[in-house]
Amino acid sequence: MAGPSASFTMTIGPVPFKDVVGEAAEDDDHITPPTEYGDIISTLPSINYLGRWVHYQYQGGWVIHQRIPGVLSFQRRFTPRPGDVLLASPPKCGTTWLKALSFATMARAAYPPNSAEHPLLRLNPHECVPLLDDLFSAGQHDKLEALPSPRLMNTHMLHSQLPSSVADNIDCKIVYICREPKDMLVSLWHFAQTISPIKFTDVFESACEGKSTDGPIWNHILGYWGASKTSPERVMFLRYEEMILDPVDTVRHLARFLGLPFTSAEEAAGVPANIVKLCSMETMKAVEANNIGTSGIFLKFPHKSYFRKGVVGDWVNHMTPEMARRFDSIVDDKISGSGLSFRP
Ligand code: A3P
Repeated sequence: MAGPSASFTMTIGPVPFKDVVGEAAEDDDHITPPTEYGDIISTLPSINYLGRWVHYQYQGGWVIHQRIPGVLSFQRRFTPRPGDVLLASPPKCGTTWLKALSFATMARAAYPPNSAEHPLLRLNPHECVPLLDDLFSAGQHDKLEALPSPRLMNTHMLHSQLPSSVADNIDCKIVYICREPKDMLVSLWHFAQTISPIKFTDVFESACEGKSTDGPIWNHILGYWGASKTSPERVMFLRYEEMILDPVDTVRHLARFLGLPFTSAEEAAGVPANIVKLCSMETMKAVEANNIGTSGIFLKFPHKSYFRKGVVGDWVNHMTPEMARRFDSIVDDKISGSGLSFRP
């Protein structure tokens, strides 16, 4: 039997998603949403979030109408591969940063973080790591097959919405990021403003009622928190505030969790610090790809809108002390008994 030919080379993932699929991923001409779930969707409770966006309540979370067929399709069609890594998050909790850090960490052998040719210096992090919710909603999930393993992917789905092929899969690791909920709300408001004028008080009041995209925020957080407690080897639970405090240590933990710990030679060469520098707000804001173009298949957000302040505690500039007390007490009540707290 012939052995592997000398010229045989195998691409190891992750590689930038856009390098594999090209521009077509976000091209409207290539959107063919799954249509077979109308009967299920028509039975779901719905709201008109902020008077603009219809959301459906499904398995514990509010899903925007364009993505509900995608969630249903994902649950039925996603074929996990050993080594898959799923980055999970509620919107506006540091997903973009986590995508960059995870991509740079996992792909460091092919793309050294101090290289001037690094993909994150020519592509937005969302172009490197695909959002499954959008891909399945647009009928483009076949594109995932073209990615070499290990694949790095992202979802905003709640843990309760993940199929057991993912949630109970020993070969599929999940890295979750969340954030102090008041800061998340402020970030969400700024982000939504980039496509539609909205009053902060409207975003706030809806959130107090548990209504937000992929919310209630406490359901989102508690689902992954619980999973990280029962299966710490499969679900890593990160908090934006802790990452801001010590990003280099976060990257070390991340690498260990993913089974790719830094060697002493890499530590001596400053690789973890180089990854943090590459993915820093300062570097990302200076990259041209992060200042032009848009991300998203259904709602297109400017790449620039993913990089704002990147600080902890910005809520003080938008909430009165009374609003903060009210929201804190709602969140405290919802997460009480879980062992999780967002209080200093
Ligand atoms: P702010 O709006 O508070 O500044 P997401 O990526 O989930 O949409 O989250 C966006 C939030 O993460 C924004 O928060 C954004 O500024 C922040 N962010 C994006 N890139 C970052 C980075 N490299 N370092 C730290 N924070 C970052």
